Amino acid sequence: MAFTAEHSERCRRDFPALRAASGEREPVFLDGPGGVQVPEIVIDTMAEFYRSCNVNTHGSFPPSHEVDRRMHRARETLAAFLGAPGPQCISFGQNMTTLNFALSTAIGRTLAAGDEVLITQLDHEANRGPWLALEERGAIVRQVRMTARGELDPDDMAAKISARTRVFAIGAASNALGTVNDLEQARRLTREVGALLVVDAVHFAPHFPLDVARLDPDFLLCSGYKFYGPHVGVLYAKPGALDRLPTNRLSTQEPAAPHRIETGTLNHAAIDGMRAAVEYLASWGTGATLRERLVDAMQGISAYEHALAKRYHDAVRQLPGIKVYGPDFATVHRAPTVSISLAAHSAGAAATALGERGVYVWDGHFYAARVIELLGLANRGGLLRTGISMYSAARDIDRLLEGLARLT
Ligand SMILES: Cc1ncc(COP(=O)(O)O)c(C=O)c1O
Repeated sequence: MAFTAEHSERCRRDFPALRAASGEREPVFLDGPGGVQVPEIVIDTMAEFYRSCNVNTHGSFPPSHEVDRRMHRARETLAAFLGAPGPQCISFGQNMTTLNFALSTAIGRTLAAGDEVLITQLDHEANRGPWLALEERGAIVRQVRMTARGELDPDDMAAKISARTRVFAIGAASNALGTVNDLEQARRLTREVGALLVVDAVHFAPHFPLDVARLDPDFLLCSGYKFYGPHVGVLYAKPGALDRLPTNRLSTQEPAAPHRIETGTLNHAAIDGMRAAVEYLASWGTGATLRERLVDAMQGISAYEHALAKRYHDAVRQLPGIKVYGPDFATVHRAPTVSISLAAHSAGAAATALGERGVYVWDGHFYAARVIELLGLANRGGLLRTGISMYSAARDIDRLLEGLARLT
């Protein structure tokens, strides 16, 4: 099913934060890569959780059974979102960063001195820092080079994987530049040398259908607040992959997947809210199963967001004194995230001026700090980033362009 401007307009009404206060203009949220707004159904689901079953799991009384049922349903729903075989593959945590640290710590215990871990220069620090920390244990961490266009160098990727590589941690899409990485190449190369493939899909998940059954990563992470849910991290582990890992856990904790990496009490209300967010996304697709509806919806949303991002990309390039970064829209598959710098203003000054006009965009390094360093922008306030979401409209882009035109 196509997701058109009319659908986007309809979906906008589901998000209370997008409504204009009386006598004011609509706020323009183009900050999605930092976190999107949530639809009413997510807010209602979380409120209803607290009203009806705010108790812990695994009790012997009805409200606790209800929480167990909801947690199971949330794992099933997230499995459908990712294309995973079942709920036992889905672990939850505080956020992606915390889960990735737990994962790298566990994998680190299985490494011998001199074993290699490959990361990339393009990734968010959440998929670099946890692996760089393994240098303390004697691991050698190598990095795939980013090109001037903000893409990973495929030859460098091939050259840096060796028989000593135990893990390749790579992002599916860059939250700074919108680059979509070649995960097929990463999977091929890791398979050849028997290394684990860990994918950071945080920036990819809100914009494209995910299919772990086809891609076959060992681990994949994403984060609910990027796809219209609350702040919950999600870890997919290939069947069997988590059960073998020496994770940090209590003696009283369930040792099997998916619980093996879930320390302490989870945020049950937020997990239920994230389940509602995924079902909300599915409501924009058609199909017999939840998975089919999700894939259909994400394909439609993807095409809609891409067209709007391209429209912005084409227009912003025409403004004087603006430099646009990242891959070209004409030639490659990329995420609807566009970053620029302005000759006359720092990104921070531009974001502040736009914010005063009700147009919200992010500035800085967005934790993709290595990317900003390599682009030579570390001492110049980084980039000004615009992210398109399912609720973004052409008039939002027009307001952003108007605001930028005043700054050039
Ligand atoms: C690409 C990418 N990876 C990882 C993260 C970290 O996610 P979390 O905030 O859930 O730890 C972010 C957050 O912005 C991100 O954009």
